[in-house]
Amino acid sequence: MQPVKIITTVKKMQEHSDLMIHQGKSIALIPTMGFLHEGHLSLMQEGSRHADHLVVSIFVNPTQFGQGEDLEAYPKDFNRDMDLCKKKGVDVIFKPDAPELYPENFQTYIALEKLPNHLCGLSRPVHFKGVATIVTKLFNIVKPDIAIFGQKDFQQLAVIKQMVSDLHMTVKVIGAPIIREADGLAMSSRNTCLSPEKRPAALSLFESLNNAKQLIKNGVTDSNIITKKARDIVKFHGDTEIDYISICDPETLEDVQNIKKPVLMAMAVKVGKTRLIDNMLLSP
Ligand code: PAJ
Repeated sequence: MQPVKIITTVKKMQEHSDLMIHQGKSIALIPTMGFLHEGHLSLMQEGSRHADHLVVSIFVNPTQFGQGEDLEAYPKDFNRDMDLCKKKGVDVIFKPDAPELYPENFQTYIALEKLPNHLCGLSRPVHFKGVATIVTKLFNIVKPDIAIFGQKDFQQLAVIKQMVSDLHMTVKVIGAPIIREADGLAMSSRNTCLSPEKRPAALSLFESLNNAKQLIKNGVTDSNIITKKARDIVKFHGDTEIDYISICDPETLEDVQNIKKPVLMAMAVKVGKTRLIDNMLLSP
């Protein structure tokens, strides 16, 4: 196994990337918040297919967590993350601390006007401003040619693609498919917070999406019928709280009532204290 270089400061990371660029190497960046799982590893795999030098950032970004969200409780295991990165052939882990990225006088944010007004943005009003800001900072620090994001966070991917286009950034953004557990649960660092008895409730998200796929296949075009059925599937389980279940346009994320072309079905449900999201692209 090759050693993985750990860089903790902005200056050293920029210098390292400059050196790689000078040597003619292309750089792929996989931004993460750590506590890595197969979903993250699939992004690394994709990254190494596209570039010579693979950088993974591990940073639990405080600006994308609202008050009362799980910033403090966010799971961490850096030694395990490091081993997984080594196995995947990662060249550099960029692991700054919060004061390194947000010093005292920090005051510049990136905010999008429309995409955050849907889905997760409605109940997490500061979230995408925090995401767009940290991703911009990471792009400026790591200077990647390509950056890989998971379709699991569909809205996040849409926000980043829009931002890159709006701000004329030169990085190429690639979206990678959702990786699931054997039973269908979308992999997430937060899944470890689910106790075994909460598992059936957690699986109701994927069940709802599959049910929607079947209904559309059977010719149902009214979104209300499909989301109503999804609500019933989730509510069948105790200790679930639906944040949203939406059928929307995959580009604008605006609600679609009558399904005539491919749509995104996206949902967020709190199972116990754990907020889960999942989505599926559905074609009539
Ligand atoms: P995090 O939740 O750690 O996710 C890092 C990346 O892994 C994201 O692009 C996410 O979409 C992807 N990912 C997570 N679960 C996945 C799965 N089951 N299948 C495929 N990809 C998956 O998303 C973030 O961190 C942060 O918001 C970040 C972009 C790092 C900015 O702070």
